[in-house]
Amino acid sequence: MIFIPYLAALLLATSPTSQNAPATIAMEENTFLVQARNAMKQNDTDAAFQSLSQVFAINANTPGLMNCFEDLFRLKIRLNNDSIDRMGLASLLSDLGRFEEAAVEFRNVVENEHLGGPLQEKAASMLFRTEAANCAWKTIDQDSETLVASVRHALQYGRIPAVHPYEALMWPCLSLKESSQIASMYAERAMESTSNLQDRLPRTSIPSKVHVCSGQRPRTIKQRIKLGYISPDFTGKHPLAFLMQDVFRFHDSSSFEIYIYSPYESDNSPEVEKIKSAADHWTVLSAPAQNMVDTILADDLDILIDLCGYTGTSLIAEVMARRVAPVQIGYMGFPASTGAPFIDFMICDKVVVPPDDLSIRQHYSENLIFMPHCYFVNSHKFLTRKESNVLRHIHGLPELGFVYCCHSRPEKIDPNTYRSWLRVLKSIRQKGAQEGNAQLANAVLWLLRSGTVMEQNLRDLAGNEFGLADDSLVFADKAPRDDHLNRLQLADVFLDTPAYNAHTVGVDCLSAGVPMVSLLRKVTQSIDSGSVGTEKLASRVGASLLKSIGLDACIASTMDEYEAIMEACATNPGWFTEIKSHLIDSRSSSPLFDTDRWVKNLEAGLIEISSQSILSDVDVLVTDEEEH
Ligand SMILES: *[C@@H]1O[C@H](CO)[C@@H](O)[C@H](O)[C@H]1NC(C)=O
Ligand SMILES: *[C@@H]1O[C@H](CO)[C@@H](O)[C@H](O)[C@H]1NC(C)=O
Repeated sequence: MIFIPYLAALLLATSPTSQNAPATIAMEENTFLVQARNAMKQNDTDAAFQSLSQVFAINANTPGLMNCFEDLFRLKIRLNNDSIDRMGLASLLSDLGRFEEAAVEFRNVVENEHLGGPLQEKAASMLFRTEAANCAWKTIDQDSETLVASVRHALQYGRIPAVHPYEALMWPCLSLKESSQIASMYAERAMESTSNLQDRLPRTSIPSKVHVCSGQRPRTIKQRIKLGYISPDFTGKHPLAFLMQDVFRFHDSSSFEIYIYSPYESDNSPEVEKIKSAADHWTVLSAPAQNMVDTILADDLDILIDLCGYTGTSLIAEVMARRVAPVQIGYMGFPASTGAPFIDFMICDKVVVPPDDLSIRQHYSENLIFMPHCYFVNSHKFLTRKESNVLRHIHGLPELGFVYCCHSRPEKIDPNTYRSWLRVLKSIRQKGAQEGNAQLANAVLWLLRSGTVMEQNLRDLAGNEFGLADDSLVFADKAPRDDHLNRLQLADVFLDTPAYNAHTVGVDCLSAGVPMVSLLRKVTQSIDSGSVGTEKLASRVGASLLKSIGLDACIASTMDEYEAIMEACATNPGWFTEIKSHLIDSRSSSPLFDTDRWVKNLEAGLIEISSQSILSDVDVLVTDEEEH
């Protein structure tokens, strides 16, 4: 609920009422609601707010409460015409799923507050988020312009932008440069809470030296390296634990002693239990940050890998900012540079960060550890997969008809790419109808539903602009992970989203034997307006996944090529069958699913770092001798 933060701020003065027996609560709530209504009749908005806050504190789900809040916000707006109340109303409407009305209120604040004011910027950010979550793109050009202008304004005046660093990776209108700047503002904020002076010094720009080391050569080291991992996402609910569940047990215990830090107890999910039992030490950290810092410092680590960056809680960044290990590394959870001087290295590969391209490299503050294959690790090899007995018709898919699939969040879909999908879909359906080819004539686009507004917006665009019939789009509801993995096998091909690629879902589909089409532009290429660039790391992961499993043929370097590959998948069955069988044959041999090999390569990089006098200006390039 985004409405809650607004309330929380306002509620600080209101203490929760005494704990009553459940039977009397409803009565008390009702009394407060009546009081609030009466106060509103007198235009006494403060008293009404007090009463509603009482109800909220007793039971936020009280029937009628949200309606009352809505009426109160509307009354306040009528009386005071104040943007803060509009923001409150808009947040409430968002929470209630009334996105179109919410957008109207956000837009009102954007237009009436002066550019660069904190409220205007906050509204621009929330407007963009609301529209993106619903694929509501009618005013995306104008909204993008406003967002960029307000972010630039905040950066120029040294204010932390309202756009979160993670969102900055998703919004195509924000460049690699801007997203890195936003991240470094968050780093600075984390450092404000510390007396860490060492990291305040400006760092020399781009490492001029590269250490090359071999991932597969046996090594001897003098002393076991104490290696820690820290994350708030060791839970069965988060993809991180799912992806990394089989990683830790492959660490060479004669060279590494593994410490895992989590702010939470294990949730007893199989993923976390596996991680816990593979580690030498599993430590639950408790807030505040200084307490967490003391616990970690007592372990005297050599290296600590932060698996979340700015996602989840800001506590972890505050811990890292206090320097709890002589070498601190960023990986996995935040797919970008942290811009943080207290993160010394970042784990990546040569596809996601092309090492020789200064226009990209300059926006990474860390020294880089280049893995020899895809940097993005997974444990999919060890999944016990049920034989697919799922049937297409159960999911509303045609038995005979090509299925294009994109089960990514709506925020990742951009209008330009969506139009590419529809263009190809229309063309092959027409072709199928002319030639009497049912496989083509019945082709569909299979998307993930994220609310009715999102679905309607996508259907409207397909119908209005492309004349596509309603049955050409099929929407799936979000499903538990097992069901998701199982039904994914029903797709013929997965369409990657260029703005922010399918990372976990990309691995899911490749491991299910479903090829993926992805975009990786040449860096120097100029881009048509409205088209999406692929400079950011998060926009390059799809290509890295595909390369590591030998599906280079599915990587397009322009949108025209993207459409051509997409079309060929359906219209050139000979070629596509080859692609598909290559994928299926490679799954057991490819480095992409070789978790053990990935760990060995990482260890080589970490040993290289430990043996050098660290924090110097180096990148580390891990090679993999199995290749030769
Ligand atoms: C409340 O405010 C409105 C608008 O200013 C006004 O028309 C109305 O008479 C007021 N009601 C009372 C009870 O003061
Ligand atoms: C509300 O305030 C804005 C400026 O903040 C102004 O442009 C607008 O006309 C006002 N609306 C009303 C109804 O007074």
